[in-house]
Amino acid sequence: MTDFPSAASIRSAHGLVGRTREIQDIIACLAAGRHVLVEGPVGVGKTVLVQAVVRSLGRPFSRIDGDGRYTEAKLVGSFDPPTVLAKGYIPTAFTPGPLVRTLRDGGILFINELNRMPEGVQNVLLPSMDEQRLEVTNLGTIHASRGFAIIATQNPREFVATGDLAEALLDRFEHVRLDYQDEDEECEIVRIRTMHHPSPEITRACVRMVRATRNDPRIRRGASVRAAIAMADLAVQLDGDVHRAANLSLPTRIELMEDRDLPDILSNLKKKVSGSGPLSPRWT
Ligand SMILES: Nc1ncnc2c1ncn2[C@@H]1O[C@H](COP(=O)(O)OP(=O)(O)OP(=O)(O)O)[C@@H](O)[C@H]1O
Ligand SMILES: [Mg+2]
Repeated sequence: MTDFPSAASIRSAHGLVGRTREIQDIIACLAAGRHVLVEGPVGVGKTVLVQAVVRSLGRPFSRIDGDGRYTEAKLVGSFDPPTVLAKGYIPTAFTPGPLVRTLRDGGILFINELNRMPEGVQNVLLPSMDEQRLEVTNLGTIHASRGFAIIATQNPREFVATGDLAEALLDRFEHVRLDYQDEDEECEIVRIRTMHHPSPEITRACVRMVRATRNDPRIRRGASVRAAIAMADLAVQLDGDVHRAANLSLPTRIELMEDRDLPDILSNLKKKVSGSGPLSPRWT
């Protein structure tokens, strides 16, 4: 893997906390000439991780974001109708899309939230992934230059209402799973990503509150470090009142089991968390 940057240099260039092993895994896949699917719950850090790796490689790359209205023509590229009318299907009438560009350049195609892409778009990727080529009507065959790879992210099936990836597509990816980071790493993420400099006590209280949402039987889907970042910024504005900040930050970010009442759950979490360590932010 000598042509690739080290995990430490990627982390420090992009302010990434932890994730050394996951960065090494992604780099190992690329070095082996494979495509990578990074999967993990909402807000776990998929986009920020892949973005950091892709930008650090010193290679051409394109990023596209999953969207139900994204089209095959956008992915591949298209002919300019007036030029075609005047001169026919000449190569210069074709404006390449991100797939053709990265194939030609031996670049990286970063597809964020792949499972939100329509099935037609997903299918276009198949031949480029294992046969290293793409047939484009009226243009011909595009062969992949050395180094071409796809890195995609997505939420695992249980987290999304959007479509599952077809088995054929999954079969062409290696899989890197991201789990929530430990408490100290999440505190460090909050420290560097907040805008309003919360105290270490506020930071830890917010992280603990968010972490408590992940293993409460009344909560189907808990909150991510993204919620802790927002909550800590709010707590600073609210004079250190972490519970009031939680009331603002958590309702949009957790999913309750049926028949559960959010205010009850939040005050219960507050009690649990405020008794869990030596913290002294204001809990009202
Ligand atoms: N290891 C990390 N180091 C630094 N910041 C991080 C790390 N992990 C997550 N973050 C921060 O947490 C927030 C959420 O990360 P990100 O947007 O990458 O999550 P995601 O998994 O892509 O979320 P989604 O599923 O909603 O797309 C961002 O503000 C990001 O900067
Ligand atoms: Mg993301």
